[in-house]
Amino acid sequence: MSGGHSTYTPKTGIERWFDARMPLPRLVYDSFVAYPVPRNLNYAWTFGGILSIMLVAQILTGIVLAMHYTSDTTLAFGSVEKIVRDVNSGWLLRYLHSNGASFFFIAVYIHIFRGLFYGSYKAPRELLWVLGCIIYLLMMATGFMGYVLPWGQMSFWGATVITGFFTAIPLVGDWIQQLLLGGFAVDNPTLNRFFALHYLLPFMIAGVVVLHVWALHVTGQNNPTGIEVKSKTDTVAFTPYATIKDGFGMVVFLFFLAYFVFYIPNYLGHPDNYTQANPLKTPAHIVPEWYFLPFYAILRAITFNIGPINSKLGGVLAMFGAIAVLFVVPWLDTSKVRSAVYRPWYKLFFWLFVVDCVLLGWLGSRPAEGAYVAMAQVCTLFYFAFFLIVMPVLGLIETPRRIPNSITEAVLEKNKGAHVALPAGAASPEAKV
Ligand code: HEM
Repeated sequence: MSGGHSTYTPKTGIERWFDARMPLPRLVYDSFVAYPVPRNLNYAWTFGGILSIMLVAQILTGIVLAMHYTSDTTLAFGSVEKIVRDVNSGWLLRYLHSNGASFFFIAVYIHIFRGLFYGSYKAPRELLWVLGCIIYLLMMATGFMGYVLPWGQMSFWGATVITGFFTAIPLVGDWIQQLLLGGFAVDNPTLNRFFALHYLLPFMIAGVVVLHVWALHVTGQNNPTGIEVKSKTDTVAFTPYATIKDGFGMVVFLFFLAYFVFYIPNYLGHPDNYTQANPLKTPAHIVPEWYFLPFYAILRAITFNIGPINSKLGGVLAMFGAIAVLFVVPWLDTSKVRSAVYRPWYKLFFWLFVVDCVLLGWLGSRPAEGAYVAMAQVCTLFYFAFFLIVMPVLGLIETPRRIPNSITEAVLEKNKGAHVALPAGAASPEAKV
């Protein structure tokens, strides 16, 4: 995965034996020890590692939960309560898994916004980005199906609403919905197939993550300046520099997760999901989990027909379009400069876009009426305008700030004037690079 020349030299007999037969230690050494990373990576670059450990944590806690869970509509709700009350450390497993899902999404949103800010999707990292988008889609499917498993009111009604979207698709819509449900309504066959898929998808995510990291190691990492690595002085070895920084980022992130797990484990959930699913009683407001809310707001913002497209199909198309547009971002951005650090106008629009997404999330949690709908329509318009107008047009007309010649030059410029305490007789940091 290193993409470069190997510097690994086996030291012990066992290492030499392995190296001649299956050079796994060489792969690990080249990819995670000697691998050169840009010397100016900030903490935004620790989220890939954070996502990796979150994926492992979700799989491990999920496997143990599955040992105690029963995917039958008459038993599912009770089996989850039993896990929390009767299974040894079951409460910890469940809350780690449910809050872990939310934190997984927090990390992935930071990771995606980081990519958008620093232009990490631009050539030659387009495939890396597209693989990331596939991971994100798989994560959404996994999160949605996982939320159905406790068989609470929100599980049932969320599944009913979301699978209902598919009926808006002409000709094949009803067929897709029945395929998802395993029948004509959310019921036992639905719960069983969602459980099977919820177990399977994380392993598919893991597979795509391997491709994602492979692609990353071929192109090398982008960095805050967006300038490619030009010489050895632009990089440092992955170990110890990036491993220590990533490790610190992970520990801080896990502290936040621990706070939620131990002090407010149900804060991110919905109280209605502590009532067992009842197909005869519709909750007053059906809301998905927080990480789907921006897309839910976009879905409900389309309240009007657009030519032959009725409002229901329009909403579904807008919602799927909001995700689909991410796939083509590398080809929408026409700017020759990668990083927003040197693009004042793009930077402004980027932060407006972040505010827009947060607003959409909030609007998704509000009832779809009055001013909320009007606001969601404006925010939806800006969401698409950011990708389809701002990205292509700004790249052509914006004058970027002066770009340093290299990463090293950028680092030294930033530290100019900073007082660096050096031991007597040591060379100055400038002299070292
Ligand atoms: C399970 C989910 C994911 C995992 C485990 C993962 C893992 C990683 C890792 C380890 C890195 C290198 C470290 C870093 O740059 O932070 C990385 C980089 C990257 N990821 Fe992901 N990723 C995931 C999801 C995504 C998604 C959803 C996207 C975008 C839609 C994405 C886009 C990128 C890009 C563009 C880079 C290169 C960043 C750069 O070098 O500037 N990733 N990812």
